[in-house]
Parts: sequence; structure tokens; C-alpha cells
Amino acid sequence: MTTNAQGTGKRAVKAVIPAAGLATRFLPATKAVPKELLPVVDRPVLQYIVEEAAAAGITDVLLVTGRGKTSMVDHFDRRPDVEQRLEEKGDLKRLEAVRRTSELADIYTCRQGEPLGLGHAVGCAASHVGDNPFAVLLGDEFVDVEQPLLPSMLDLQASTGGIVLALLEVPTEETSRYGIASVEKTAESDIVKVTGLVEKPSPAEAPSNLAVLGRYVLPGTIFDAIADTKPGAGGEIQLTDAMAALLSAGVPVHGIIYRGHRYDTGMPLGYLQAVVQLAVKRPDLGEEFLAWLTEFVGGRQG
Ligand code: UTP
Repeated sequence: MTTNAQGTGKRAVKAVIPAAGLATRFLPATKAVPKELLPVVDRPVLQYIVEEAAAAGITDVLLVTGRGKTSMVDHFDRRPDVEQRLEEKGDLKRLEAVRRTSELADIYTCRQGEPLGLGHAVGCAASHVGDNPFAVLLGDEFVDVEQPLLPSMLDLQASTGGIVLALLEVPTEETSRYGIASVEKTAESDIVKVTGLVEKPSPAEAPSNLAVLGRYVLPGTIFDAIADTKPGAGGEIQLTDAMAALLSAGVPVHGIIYRGHRYDTGMPLGYLQAVVQLAVKRPDLGEEFLAWLTEFVGGRQG
């Protein structure tokens, strides 16, 4: 990959997690509990996301929160009372797990007063991030820890200075559920040049089967583009529209095709799949859970 004139070589060191949405697809569970705090086995979704950022070397994490979402921040605080009880009980495994949550990253927050769209939520991070490149991790999806995605996105962004997206190959009949990228090949098979983005196209209209996943690495110039973006689809200020403005201004946009597994916990079906898939993988309970699951499924088929 050649270094673009805008390439600074500076790798993003901050992440923004927009988590101020209303989560309507998961109501009524999300009336009082943020979807980011729904547990997947024994950790909230948000912890998997912060762990993903930390594993990529990003330990400055800004949570964009909103009304009723304060408990998200509490999850990353110390709990001396709980720690003391676990210490007294000699439960060192849980003690370590509880302490770990407060040691993963430096957590900062800012408020999005009203959920005016993903672009608007990212815009709330402007003063924390400044002119620097940064990563955006949506608060309801994460990828397999064994198949990290962020490090290669951060490296690519440092070399191009532009926008880097993560793309997932989806079945053609599902394109209408995603933002879909039109792309051109590059010399590297898993990196494409993005020439356009279409929101939720029908399979006939879709320019490819490459869906935009909830991971972005963006240059600081996105904040001006967001400030200039008018409400778009659904009356919301869309991140896609701000990225499209940078694309037409000549900012390079690349996509990395992700071949690993992505968990989408933003609605009940994907959430249930994530819980089962991760429970089966767990060394401490996977075997027993899988045996039960197999028997349960067998019983239903019999
Ligand atoms: P979604 O499209 O999943 O919206 O936003 P949502 O409100 O969370 O959920 P549904 O669609 O109503 O079920 C993608 C990400 O952007 C955040 C959400 O919290 C989620 O992590 N977001 C969205 C904001 O922070 N603010 C917004 O105004 C909109």
C-alpha cells in the first residue's frame, strides 16, 4: 500500500464507542437496561468491545452515552467492597475478573443529549479526539478475540491517512439489512478501495455483497464533515453521509474484508447466537453446556 499524501504515519490511539442509541430492536429489555450491558455468558457486550480495543493497543476509550446509560460507566469502575468479599472468600478467579474490568482502559464519557444519529454521536467526541485519527467501535457488535480486526485497520489508516472500513461478505439476499460498499480491487486481496456506499440496497441494486461492519478508523477531518452534514435517512445525522462527503472531497477510503466471526448483539436473534457460540467456546463451561445443548436439540428433533 503506498502512502497517500495525507498519510501521517500516526496510528490512532483513541477509540470512541457510540452507545447512546435507543435500541428499539431489543425492547422491552432495553427500556431500563442499555443493550451494551446485556450479558454474553458472564460479561456485558460492552466489555468485549473494550477488550477488543485494548487488545489492539487502544486504552483511551470514550463512551458516548445518553439518558439511562450511566450504569455502563460503572462497569469499568473499581468495586472495593466486592473485591474485599471475594478476597475473604478466597475466590481469586472472580477477584481477578472483577479487577480486570477496571484495568482494561481509561474510560472517558461524553453525553449525546438526544439520539440524533450515529454521525451526531461520533461528532460528540470532537473535543476529546481533536485532529487525530481515531477508531469507532459500535456498542452492539464485536469480533472473535482470536481473529482481531482492529490492528490491521489502524495500520492501514496510518499509511493512507484516510478512512478505513471493515467489510463483511454477506449472502446476496441479505444486502437490504446493511450498508453496502461499491469497491475496486487493490494489489492486496483483502483490501479494497471503496468508491461508494449505499444504505440497505435490495439484492438487485446492491453494488457488491460487502457489508459495512461496526468498526471504522477515521481521520480527524470527519468532525468538520459531520458538522456540515444535514439530517439524512430517518431524520438522523448519518455517519455514512459524512464519510461520503470526505470521499467526494478526495479522501481515500479503504475497506478490509474481515474473514473472522462477528457477533451482532443489537437484536434478539443475533444476541442469542452470540451467547450460545461463546458459551460453547468457554473452557470452563463449554463442554457441559454443549452436552446439554446437543441433548436439548436432539430432544426437540425426536
Ligand atoms: P443502531 O442503528 O443500532 O441504533 O446504532 P440503536 O438506537 O442502538 O438501535 P435500534 O436500531 O433502535 O434497535 C448503531 C450504534 O450507534 C449508536 C447506538 O448506541 C449503537 O451503538 N447510536 C445510534 C448513538 O450513540 N446515537 C444515536 O443517535 C444513534
